[in-house]
Parts: sequence; C-alpha cells; structure tokens
Amino acid sequence: MKLLHVVGARPNFPKLAPVHRAGCAAGASQVVVHTGQHYDDDMSGRFIRDLGIPSPDINLAVGSDTHAVQTARIMERIEPVLIAQRPDWVVVYGDVNSTMAAAVVASKLGIRVAHVEAGLRSFDRTMPEEINRIVTDRLADLLLTPSRDASAQLRAEGEPEDEIEFVGNVMIDSLFHALPAARATRFREKIGVNGSAVVVTLHRPSNVDDPGRIRALAAALNEAALEREVVFPTHPRTRLRLEEAGLRMDRVHMLEPVGYLEMLDLVERAFAVVTDSGGLQEETTALGVPCLTVRSNTERPITISQGTNRLVPHPGDIATELRRVRRPTDRPRPEGWDGHAGERVIAALMQRT
Ligand code: UD1
Repeated sequence: MKLLHVVGARPNFPKLAPVHRAGCAAGASQVVVHTGQHYDDDMSGRFIRDLGIPSPDINLAVGSDTHAVQTARIMERIEPVLIAQRPDWVVVYGDVNSTMAAAVVASKLGIRVAHVEAGLRSFDRTMPEEINRIVTDRLADLLLTPSRDASAQLRAEGEPEDEIEFVGNVMIDSLFHALPAARATRFREKIGVNGSAVVVTLHRPSNVDDPGRIRALAAALNEAALEREVVFPTHPRTRLRLEEAGLRMDRVHMLEPVGYLEMLDLVERAFAVVTDSGGLQEETTALGVPCLTVRSNTERPITISQGTNRLVPHPGDIATELRRVRRPTDRPRPEGWDGHAGERVIAALMQRT
C-alpha cells in the first residue's frame, strides 16, 4: 500500500505523526508532502522534529498569501507530484487550506482521498476552515472520524455508510506519546512559571483581525493577569495584529510561538487554557485541564459534553469565567481518544486497498 500524506500547517503535524508511525509498522510505502503553508521553523520544522516525523520528502514552498492564491498555488504545485507518485491513497488531515487543495486535485486525478478528522462542523461558514471541512468531506472516499457525533453528522449529510469509519482522535495519540518528553523539557521552570498559570493561544481571524475584538481580548487578559500568571505564546498573525493596533500587555508573559513539547509541558500543568484553537480544546479534554474557548461555536462539541471545554464568546467574561473554573476530579475521556487512533487509520486504509 502506497500512502501520500499531505501536511502544511502547524496543526497537521501532530495528526500525521501517529498515522505515519503506524504506516511504518505495517510496512506501507509512504511519501510526505509538505505544502509550505507554514514555513517558519517555529511553526513547522520544530514541530516535525518534536514529533519525530521524518523530514518531508517534498516541499511545495507555497508560503502565505490570500486564501485563493495560497490554495491555487498548492493545487498547481501538487498536481505533478500526484501524477508522478500515483499513490493508492492521498491522506489529508484536519481543515486547513492544504487539506482542501490536495483533496480537490487528487479527486480530479481519480486518486482516492482519505480524510483524517472528518465530520467536524461548526456550522459557521464565516470560518475558512468550515468551508475546507465541507469540501474535503464531500470529495473524500474514506471519512475517518474522531468521534461518533462526527460520523453521525456525515450520515446526516448523505455520505455512504461504507465510506465512514470511526477511528478516534489521532491528536491524542501524539499527546500520550509525547508527554514524557514534554515533561523532560522542564520548559515551565525554564521560563520562570511558578504557580499554575493561565495559558493563552489566540490566532483565529475572527478574534485577532478585528481591531475592536483584539483590543477587548488584550484588556481581558490584562485583567486576568492581575489575579494569576498569564502566559501567551503568540502566533505570528496575532503578533502582527497586536503591533498594528499598538496594543501592549505589560502584565502578560508574552512568548514567541513554542514547540509542541514545550506547549504540552505548559498545558499539562496549567490552571486553565484560554484559546481559539481546535487542537487545544481536545488536548485539554484529554488532560483534564479546564479550557475556555473564546468563540461562539465549536466544531468539537464533544469537548464540552464529555470534556473540560466551555465556550466564552465575549472577551469581557474571561476574567469572571477564570474565577469559576475547577479542575475535574476524574478525567472523562471520549471514546477512541486512547492513543491508538493512528493504528486504526492504517487498518481502515489497508482493509480497502
Ligand atoms: C492556519 C489555518 C488554521 C490553523 C492555523 C494554525 C487555514 C485556512 N488556516 O491559519 O486553520 O488553525 O493555521 O496555525 O488553513 N505566518 C508566518 N509564518 C508562518 C506561517 C504564517 O509568519 O510560518 C504569518 C503570515 O503573516 C501569514 C499569517 O501568519 O499571512 C497567517 O498564516 P496562514 O497560514 O494564512 O493562516 P493561519 O492564521 O496560520
């Protein structure tokens, strides 16, 4: 079985790692294509090293641009690669532009597409990721879902039963695999975090691209920092927007983007996480760390119904909500978030090859 994995942006790498590992163990022939959607070492190379993924075989070096230009560039550059490689499956991950672009090109070439993390829906088409999810799922030949509700959603959309397979959450495979190495970084101690801090990540255009919204978020984090240490590794998009708006958060411990292992060390022992990231909603649920998601919706409702997540749509409510959070005493974990999802992905692919 020959697999061609397509990744491009930071959240793709922890999803690829366990599938690639399981593919190696099963003797699959594997090619990794990096689109170059993310290119800074902080957003890409460091994650690949932290996760033990082999260096990508091919890098399309598309870089940043508008959605249309970036997507078009990926499509243009990946087409000859797929023609030359002719894999049994193109495996795409998550909901970034690279995911959708590769799915469109592979489908038109008649190469089967498997989508890892299929069936998630925020029902909010102002999110570019929602469009990427819908297009990718419509085209994919195998829909590998992280939760039963995602499988149910795909059925409701009319996807054939034999194309849907519940495999569980590959992100959580990476999390369990990396925890010992994450703890060994002693990153928290290195940056002088003493008590249990609030860890913040924000990068969604809906939060950071609107000057009024980012101002309200900065004020909320400054307020929270009066009561508890707040640590904020900043995505490049967010840093740029903060600079443009002339915003400073003097009380907040601002960091450059951190690696996968360092982030895990911060998050595992956090008092709470404040985020708009999809991955962190899942990771906090698996670790039993309270999570406040600064959005009005989530494509991962299981992190609310069976996890530690709570939606906080208004930045002005963050400080109050932080005063209310409690660490759960037991750690409920959704079905299939057990560290073996990557193996189930490979089994599903082999069964159909
Ligand atoms: C992308 C994904 C988003 C994911 C996020 C994780 C889409 C539509 N969005 O958003 O779903 O949650 O990645 O990070 O695919 N930049 C750098 N260096 C880099 C990459 C980006 O400086 O290595 C800067 C550039 O100014 C760029 C901006 O960040 O314009 C945004 O990058 P882009 O990949 O367009 O979107 P993200 O916000 O990262």
